[in-house]
Amino acid sequence: MNKEKISIVVLAAGKGSRMKSSKAKVLHAISGKAMLYHIIKTAQEISNDITVVIGHQKEEVKEVMESYFDSINFLIQDTKKYPGTGGAMKNIVPKNEKVLVLNGDMPLITADALRGFVDTDADIVMSIFDLKDSNGYGRVIIEDGEVQRIVEQKDASELELKVTTVNAGIYAFSLSVIKKYIPHLSNANAQKEYYLTDVIALAKEDSLVISPLLVNEESFKGVNSKRDLADCEVIMQNKIKNRWMDKGVVMQLPSSIYIEESVIFEGECTVENSCKITGNTLIKNSHIKSNSVIENSIIKNSDIGPLAHIRPFSDIQDSHIGNFVEVKKSSLSGVKAGHLSYIGDAEIDKGTNIGAGVITCNYDGIYKHKTSIGKNVFIGSDSQLIAPLKIEDDVMIAAGTTLTSGKVPKGSLIKNQIEVRTIKNFYYKYFTHN
Ligand code: UD1
Ligand code: CA
Repeated sequence: MNKEKISIVVLAAGKGSRMKSSKAKVLHAISGKAMLYHIIKTAQEISNDITVVIGHQKEEVKEVMESYFDSINFLIQDTKKYPGTGGAMKNIVPKNEKVLVLNGDMPLITADALRGFVDTDADIVMSIFDLKDSNGYGRVIIEDGEVQRIVEQKDASELELKVTTVNAGIYAFSLSVIKKYIPHLSNANAQKEYYLTDVIALAKEDSLVISPLLVNEESFKGVNSKRDLADCEVIMQNKIKNRWMDKGVVMQLPSSIYIEESVIFEGECTVENSCKITGNTLIKNSHIKSNSVIENSIIKNSDIGPLAHIRPFSDIQDSHIGNFVEVKKSSLSGVKAGHLSYIGDAEIDKGTNIGAGVITCNYDGIYKHKTSIGKNVFIGSDSQLIAPLKIEDDVMIAAGTTLTSGKVPKGSLIKNQIEVRTIKNFYYKYFTHN
């Protein structure tokens, strides 16, 4: 399809009151990114002329989208004077003869699904689906086999409410239809809004061709509530995980795993049950064991978990990270940290072993400090490494050492002088006298 031939308008100015949130609806996230991000990304696959209509929380919506995209136009809707999806279309100036209008609350749409709307000569193509529960959707009134009009739920009669064919919320209009009918929309309805959906009845009166396109809920589900958001998340997650499994990633109990759309796998990887992997994480030839959380990090040739937490900006290569280990903003290469540790703002080199319970004390209450640990260092269990600290190669640190700031020279042993006393038969004396 020729990208030059079609313009896309994304309606994203609504308040989204049914979300019961102070955040604009289109900024609610699915698989780690705002709903509107997913829609624009898909829109870019089929068009070079994309306009996003903003209104409610326009600054926030614009700022978030501009952090992802640089070639989209924004149009501000006068939501006070002209509320509603029709009001959103008021000052639209598309470049092309075909205009695809997308609701900003449909994060699951795919480019393939959208192509069907524009590969036709009809004046209007509108999306419909049949639902068991049509609650919230506009009902599509079909008579004599032809679409007559769309009735919004709040305006529908008892009989109309029973209609199960609903408007999915995506339309392709020829530019002339937009120019002719948008100025004639009225707000004489239950919500006192200008409905884009009323274009259908106006066009029908003029005997224009309205072509309904049956679509599936998998790609066209709209989000009006937090429950819809959760339902769409499940669908999006399945898509993401199926894609990675198709590319060779092993997943155990995939339904329990959450992987954001920006995560990348390479080589042979296994992800066990109940893991959460977010941000721009790259995982290559690694095994992520159950209940681990990995955020915005690089993991290569390593095994992580079970129950490990890898926080943003960590780079872990050729390493073993065991249970209850938290790593933050640290680079580890060829390291073993098997149990119960906190490693933050650290660089650790090959052959180093971090004993159970070792903590890098990186925060003095005001500033964060760095820890640098060289090659083949053995750090005994339950040691506290107070940063800033540099431990050179081939160092041994005795169990239970509190190592204060400074530099530990190559080859040394570090231990705190702790006196160990043995008082014989103390136990028996203690309990007989008490
Ligand atoms: C809309 C349709 C309904 C359809 C449903 C499909 C209308 C009047 N109704 O209803 O027939 O079944 O989508 O999901 O179009 N928006 C603006 N400006 C506004 C109001 C809304 O840009 O003044 C945007 C919203 O941000 C949202 C989209 O338009 O992305 C749809 O608005 P919403 O209020 O969710 O419409 P629905 O009631 O779902
Ligand atoms: Ca909606």
